[in-house]
Amino acid sequence: MNLLHLFFIFCVGATTALQGGITSKLRYRRDSVGATNQTSLPQFDHNPGERANAILVKRRGYLYGPSKMGNASFFPTGNLGDAMVANDLSLFTATQEAVQSDINTDAVAVQVAVETNGGLKSFADYANILYNGQWSRAVPSGEDPGILSNYTEDLLFSMERLSLNPYAIRRLTPQEILPFELGDVGDSILQVAEMSITALQQAGRLFLVDHSYQAKYPTTGRFGAACSAYFFIHPTSGDFLPLAIKTNVGNDLVYTPLDAPNDWLLAKIMFNVNDLFFAQIYHLVATHDVGEIVHQAAIRTLSDNHPILAILDKLMFQAYGIRPTGDAVLFNNGGAIDTYFYLNSTAARDFVADWYPIAGAYRANYFNTFLENRGLLNCDYGPALKSFPYHEDASIIHKNMQIFMNSFIDSYYQSDKEVEEDFEVQAWVTEARNEALVIDFPELVTTKGVLIDILTHFFHLTGVAHHVLNTADPVTSLGTLPFHPAALYHPIPTSKNVTDLLPFLPPPATAIGQIGVFAAFNRAHFAAQNLTLAHAFSDPALLSRLNVGTNVAASKFSESMRNISAQIRGRAFDADGLSQGMPFVWKCLDPETLPFFFAV
Ligand SMILES: *[C@@H]1O[C@H](CO)[C@@H](O)[C@H](O)[C@H]1NC(C)=O
Ligand SMILES: *[C@@H]1O[C@H](CO)[C@@H](O)[C@H](O)[C@H]1NC(C)=O
Ligand SMILES: *[C@@H]1O[C@H](CO)[C@@H](O)[C@H](O)[C@H]1NC(C)=O
Ligand SMILES: *[C@@H]1O[C@H](CO)[C@@H](O)[C@H](O)[C@H]1NC(C)=O
Ligand SMILES: *[C@@H]1O[C@H](CO)[C@@H](O)[C@H](O)[C@H]1NC(C)=O
Ligand SMILES: *[C@@H]1O[C@H](CO)[C@@H](O)[C@H](O)[C@H]1NC(C)=O
Ligand SMILES: *[C@@H]1O[C@H](CO)[C@@H](O)[C@H](O)[C@H]1NC(C)=O
Ligand SMILES: [Fe+2]
Repeated sequence: MNLLHLFFIFCVGATTALQGGITSKLRYRRDSVGATNQTSLPQFDHNPGERANAILVKRRGYLYGPSKMGNASFFPTGNLGDAMVANDLSLFTATQEAVQSDINTDAVAVQVAVETNGGLKSFADYANILYNGQWSRAVPSGEDPGILSNYTEDLLFSMERLSLNPYAIRRLTPQEILPFELGDVGDSILQVAEMSITALQQAGRLFLVDHSYQAKYPTTGRFGAACSAYFFIHPTSGDFLPLAIKTNVGNDLVYTPLDAPNDWLLAKIMFNVNDLFFAQIYHLVATHDVGEIVHQAAIRTLSDNHPILAILDKLMFQAYGIRPTGDAVLFNNGGAIDTYFYLNSTAARDFVADWYPIAGAYRANYFNTFLENRGLLNCDYGPALKSFPYHEDASIIHKNMQIFMNSFIDSYYQSDKEVEEDFEVQAWVTEARNEALVIDFPELVTTKGVLIDILTHFFHLTGVAHHVLNTADPVTSLGTLPFHPAALYHPIPTSKNVTDLLPFLPPPATAIGQIGVFAAFNRAHFAAQNLTLAHAFSDPALLSRLNVGTNVAASKFSESMRNISAQIRGRAFDADGLSQGMPFVWKCLDPETLPFFFAV
């Protein structure tokens, strides 16, 4: 190790008023003391026997049990596994009860407002009477500015695909067969896009969201379609806009922006019903199910004093409280899915099993890999997106996560060889692939770079990916009424020219219920409790167990998160009534708001 570098971090470490003795931290490499909980690599542990025994105890006590919330990754069991779950569940439940009590109070005020109004008699009532700052306890930040007023703007609908739910959209390649033909609305496309659909596709300007697979899932008896939709980059303005929506059920109508305003608005709402279901269940499969199983493999192979497990444990705070709760109140017979959504809880379980092999893959879902594979980033056959709000915010956070993990790994491992010689990490990789059955986990972890990638992605899952689709987003934007109902309450039309859209929207009690359910995922009080991304590694108890290099990296990470937060909090509408090119102001990925863990 470079001595100057070591001296530098020593000095910085000393001036950041860290707890505990600095010298003991400098000795971690060769001098780990079995009796304390200082972290160290196994090859430098002075008590290898004791350390190995402790791992054996864990291997007997943490076992892989059946998946929960649908058939995806294993859920912990065994005496130690059960105890961990019980502990997480009690932490999670305490928080959830406090949140629910806020919701119950707020909901009473909303009920009174609706009654005073004599019900919900217009779309405007859904946007105003149901909100109006009345969710001030459960959602003090309020809904995203513009999301309740500008929802008829096509740009709002299309840009939601690049912000609120960036996991469903992809760019079509020029070579592939068009997923659906436009039939007799084909001519109208020329008016909307100034190019034929084939020309758009050839130019790499055509995008798809495909929820047609939802047609096969069982429903609650409420109504919905299984929409697929084209979006495009406009050849003149460069705006990312909707082109057509096909229902894939009933008379399989294809709608375009040239339809009557009611028809087109209904088409977008039908799409949103499908997209909201996708977003909510996908978030479970793509984040919880993955983080949990990688962590379970780590618990069974890494010593509790391994620095990597110390970090993973932190990021997995209370995480195992969520799937049991979800089985009890969301996916249960008659639970929240069955009560509010179009597709029933059996469908939710089907979705989990169908999507886990895809969304649960590890490397394929790395931040840049995923976006590049879908033609959203660095695309070589079409123009770049003019604005990509999710990428704009997530990429800077991701970069800082990578910087942190890079410093962390560099400070513990002098060389790639030391990674190879870390037999606990090697056991973790084998365990993850062969016992935990993590999909697409790296086979060979023989360099620091591969390890950094694994950890950066893990952090991205707990600190960003989870919260784009879940946490606050459903109640502040992704699931707001009247534009994003979880189900429709009137059969979908067999022809166009629908006159009255109100019957499609949830009746008042259900509307309030939907908002309340999504508010239950919000975590308004976490900022005051330092449970946000900016504070992921500022807990003195954790820092005292980690080396100086990691302590320095942790404080830099925190500073960068606070900087990013200040920038996002300053966001407002520009002169065109836009923010990040969208007719609403999206502050979801604010590191002083985002939890650093799978909060809910
Ligand atoms: C869950 O999925 C796995 C992998 O597809 C399969 O082997 C297993 O039988 C399934 N378990 C259940 C309970 O359906
Ligand atoms: C979902 O719908 C299907 C088809 O109607 C039905 O068989 C299944 O029992 C339903 N699931 C629940 C939880 O009600
Ligand atoms: C819808 O109404 C318009 C005029 O109101 C009419 O021109 C059109 O043919 C109607 N379309 C259908 C499918 O009924
Ligand atoms: C949160 O962290 C700040 C320093 O970053 C500290 O001053 C404050 O006391 C902490 N609050 C809680 C509730 O731990
Ligand atoms: C072990 O770590 C915890 C924090 O996780 C700390 O409170 C405790 O003092 C440490 N114990 C020893 C012996 O270092
Ligand atoms: C945070 O912002 C301040 C002021 O703009 C800047 O001096 C500092 O370098 C930034 N820190 C990080 C880690 O980005
Ligand atoms: C969106 O809504 C906000 C607030 O209601 C308004 O100030 C802004 O101009 C709107 N933007 C567009 C493009 O309509
Ligand atoms: Fe979640």
